[in-house]
Amino acid sequence: MIKAVRGTRDLLPPDTALWNFVDETARSVFRAYNFQEIRTPVFEDTQLFARGVGEETDIVSKEMFTWEDRGRAQSEQGQLITLRPENTAGVVRAYIEHNLQTRGLNKLYYIGPQFRRERPQKGRYRQFYQIGAEIIGPPTSGSESPARDAEILELLATLLDRLGITGWTLQLNSIGCADDRARYNEALRKALDPVKDRMDPDCQRRAVTNPLRVFDCKVPADQPIIEKLPRISEFLDEPCRRHFEQVKDILRSVGVEFQENHRLVRGLDYYTRTAFEFTHGALGAQNAILGGGRYDGLSEELGGPKAPGIGFAMGEDRLVLALNKSAEEMQPKPNVYIAPLGPGMDRAAARLARELRQQDIIVELGDEGFRMKKSLETAGKLGARFALIVGEDEVKADSFALKNLATGEQVSVPRVELVQRIRRNE
Ligand code: HAM
Repeated sequence: MIKAVRGTRDLLPPDTALWNFVDETARSVFRAYNFQEIRTPVFEDTQLFARGVGEETDIVSKEMFTWEDRGRAQSEQGQLITLRPENTAGVVRAYIEHNLQTRGLNKLYYIGPQFRRERPQKGRYRQFYQIGAEIIGPPTSGSESPARDAEILELLATLLDRLGITGWTLQLNSIGCADDRARYNEALRKALDPVKDRMDPDCQRRAVTNPLRVFDCKVPADQPIIEKLPRISEFLDEPCRRHFEQVKDILRSVGVEFQENHRLVRGLDYYTRTAFEFTHGALGAQNAILGGGRYDGLSEELGGPKAPGIGFAMGEDRLVLALNKSAEEMQPKPNVYIAPLGPGMDRAAARLARELRQQDIIVELGDEGFRMKKSLETAGKLGARFALIVGEDEVKADSFALKNLATGEQVSVPRVELVQRIRRNE
């Protein structure tokens, strides 16, 4: 038997109703904050992620699905292509490619699959889905303002509330601008130099290649060393420090609670200043439901104009796990099951179904080959509210037997009154 590939999965009904609820809620919140949708390709030039996300990150160094897209002639050198592991780099590429700076401030959102070759476990898949948003524009558009950071974070609090997800924690940090980080990296290297030999090999490698990433080391024995390292907050220059203070000020004034976490450094290299994650207790090891931050230098890194930006992406797979809702309840049930009775009745039933569906009534359609008993049983299994019986006499009279499946009550309803009658009992 051919099965879905490791780390991928089928989303089946009724669970898909939960996914649709999340998508629709997100779209309606984005609308209220004046975001518009962007759809970028699922694969991109590998260089985009190497330069955007960073060669030294786990994502680029170990987790990308990359292949060589050969030219027609076998001898032709192919282009390296990668399935997108995240969407921010693609959005910024599109911003540059289509000159979106001329539109001023761009508020863009996306919903779609991403791909990372990670070790699959609960809440971690090789094809997973993100709902994300980015605010990006030239500095004159206000894209650099701490008000944008706070707007994104407040939007997230609103979205999680609307989804009915409680018990989340917003972890907040500032990782400074490029100069601050260069000085901080230097200080970290100095502090790690005498102690790094005592650390786990993976942490040691990080200490050399990308010292900030040492904060992501989970090995318990290394924690006392990590706790004593210098903190980024001591290295922020005045504008960065003020920016962070203003973000926190606005959050307090809108009543969004947060925890400062000086160890939060994020796994992608493009971040500057504000970095954040929302975690959720019920999710176990993979407890980050979303992450994001500012990336003021990313556009220039990719050869574009100066375009400060901030955004986030939430893992929809994890969000659905944290939802406190039953998939069964979310799945809409048919309002009416149409039961054609006897030869030739499929035609009349199809006409009626068409009329009702055009009025947004959910209709399941039976088959003239079914006996009444089988039709009523099927209607019951589907959870339909009514069965509508279409027999020769009914068609002649243009009036149909409508049976309430909960009470058993049955009345004859003229065709023109059917919609109203079915709706009345909603
Ligand atoms: P990220 O932290 O790499 O950030 O991913 C964001 C979220 O995607 C995570 O918090 C998690 O919920 C979900 N996620 C990541 N990997 C997996 C996986 N293998 N399986 C299931 N869910 C996963 C970014 O991707 C940035 N582009 C976010 C951003 C947007 N920053 C600025 N703008």
